[in-house]
Amino acid sequence: MLIKRSPNGIDLPYGSEITPREIFESRRSFIGKIAAGSIASGALLEMAAREAFAQTPGAQKLTAKLNPAYNSVDKQTPFKDATTYNNYYEFGTDKSDPAKTAGTLKPRPWTVTIEGEVKKPMTLDIDSLLKLAPLEERIYRLRCVEGWSMVIPWVGYSLSELVKKVEPTGNAKYVEFVTLADKAQMPGLRSPVLEWPYVEGLRIDEAMHPLALLGLGMYGEVLPNQNGAPVRVVLPWKYGFKSAKSIVKIRFVSEQPKTAWNIAAPREYGFYSNVNPDVDHPRWSQASERRIGEDGLFAKKRKTLMFNGYNEVASLYKGMDLKKYF
Ligand code: MTE
Repeated sequence: MLIKRSPNGIDLPYGSEITPREIFESRRSFIGKIAAGSIASGALLEMAAREAFAQTPGAQKLTAKLNPAYNSVDKQTPFKDATTYNNYYEFGTDKSDPAKTAGTLKPRPWTVTIEGEVKKPMTLDIDSLLKLAPLEERIYRLRCVEGWSMVIPWVGYSLSELVKKVEPTGNAKYVEFVTLADKAQMPGLRSPVLEWPYVEGLRIDEAMHPLALLGLGMYGEVLPNQNGAPVRVVLPWKYGFKSAKSIVKIRFVSEQPKTAWNIAAPREYGFYSNVNPDVDHPRWSQASERRIGEDGLFAKKRKTLMFNGYNEVASLYKGMDLKKYF
């Protein structure tokens, strides 16, 4: 019906039952051009988003070789979506807030203090962290507890590289990640939506698993502020909230740390929070997900996989009741 009313010469004459060949073909080429045009404009927007980020003051290219063990057949989420649809409550609770407000975060100078049950406590600046181990590119799926997911080319190295440097003592059973809480840089701290600073944690064997990434960049550049500049963790077998952004302190402790979301709603967010399609969140199902930038609102949701498909971590939880330890 759109075509019938189009003013561009391809209208169907009223009453016509069979589409004449030349009209059918011109319609096909017209639709083809629209499709090609929309693809090209999508690619242009993506290029523009990357270019705009490359021009921001702190931007810096990071050269990293793709680690083929962490490649993915899934389509990568466009940079534009990964950097404008974010959860970073220190910069607001709306998905679009961090991209608008995180410009006030100063990712340099920055230090991370590593302390607690370690033989070699240390404070490292970002340049030391960038040089601590060879940078790798790893394409990870990240599944948010809210039911959406993304596929992102991260840059970093296994968190275990850093853990080994500080030599944890026998009392180090857990690792706590403390993130920046600075009212001058983070407008969201005025809201008591969470207890600040945002804290997350892992059991030490989880932190030592090669899949646990210390993230310093994405899409071949340093991390954009809204994605957790200048250093975060990326734990692709766990719900996204475990992947703490903008870390300032890593503490090795003997007791399970109290974590931000667990303090806020203990029945909803457990300490482990492994992606598990069989354990629903009290208010919604975890059986399926929507891929941001790819699956439209009305597309059939895709099935969520146990451990988000990263079965290599299963041995960490042998013998544990994952319904109890959700
Ligand atoms: N880290 C801090 N410091 N503050 C936060 O609000 N949100 C978490 C996690 N890390 C959050 C955080 C949540 S809920 C998710 S889903 C991921 O970051 C989102 O990461 P992304 O924006 O890079 O996709």
